[in-house]
Amino acid sequence: MITIVGAGRVGTSAALFLMLKELDDILLIDIIKGRPQGEALDLAHAASILGLSVDIRGSNNFEDMKGSQLVLVTAGFPRKPGMTREELLEKNAGIVADVADKIKKYAPDSIVILTTNPLDAMTYVMYKELGWDRSRVIGFSGVLDAGRLAYYASKKLGVSPASIVPIVLGMHGQAMLPVPRLSTVSGAPLDTLLSQEDIEEIVEETVQAGAKITELRGYSSSYGPGAGLAVMAESVIKDQNKVFISSVVLDGEYGYKNVVAEVPVIVGKEGAKKIIELPLTEDEKKKLDESVNAVKELINRLPEKYRS
Ligand code: 2OP
Repeated sequence: MITIVGAGRVGTSAALFLMLKELDDILLIDIIKGRPQGEALDLAHAASILGLSVDIRGSNNFEDMKGSQLVLVTAGFPRKPGMTREELLEKNAGIVADVADKIKKYAPDSIVILTTNPLDAMTYVMYKELGWDRSRVIGFSGVLDAGRLAYYASKKLGVSPASIVPIVLGMHGQAMLPVPRLSTVSGAPLDTLLSQEDIEEIVEETVQAGAKITELRGYSSSYGPGAGLAVMAESVIKDQNKVFISSVVLDGEYGYKNVVAEVPVIVGKEGAKKIIELPLTEDEKKKLDESVNAVKELINRLPEKYRS
């Protein structure tokens, strides 16, 4: 069973994409009475119409997650227009800590993937609260940032996004680091295929994408996160060992420790199996330092217990 904590827009989008993949039965949990049950019923009707063999249930009781091999945490306040992800730090740290407590109790053998913002700091809170091996806690959003880079590059190149390997490192926030030199089409780096002006444009569009969606529709992205969660979940459930840009706790990789950042990771049934270290130029490493330092600053604003 796959449990999704949070039956808001991201949680229900993830449920929809997961349902279409018929990976496993789905449980939606939310503290709002009726919400997860109603969403699950609507999705179950859709599954019936599409002829899908998947059971979808909603619950307000965390105990129901017992037996889950994968828990997707989408709970927390989303950002509103004009807000940064970082402004959600204090509010969402408490929610993530509460959810961690429930996961520890009811799904002690699971792999946890979360989307709660500010993503890297919340991944760190989840890791600290669970006290599990770092491989079992994965922050999602690198898939989203990389997917956006591939999308914007594909528009300039006239190449399918599926044929682009996009690389974004560092923080899921304004300080994220899209790396055009390491993002390739059949091995050809983007910075050899596009003009400097085009590169600057796609980098800017990638960094601003989340804020743009929030401004345009009045609330933050959900289909992108839902799709990203579904492909990562599939790699865990089927042990596909696909590589995703993911936020994981670093323990010396790229020269950082006790911090979370987006890096390429092999994801399978044991979670984050291996971090891939890319050779960076001096300038890229300097920019990555700045990006990772932005995550460290957030972690330093968290209560003392998370910093030891
Ligand atoms: C995004 O980038 C909300 O952080 C999310 O769209």
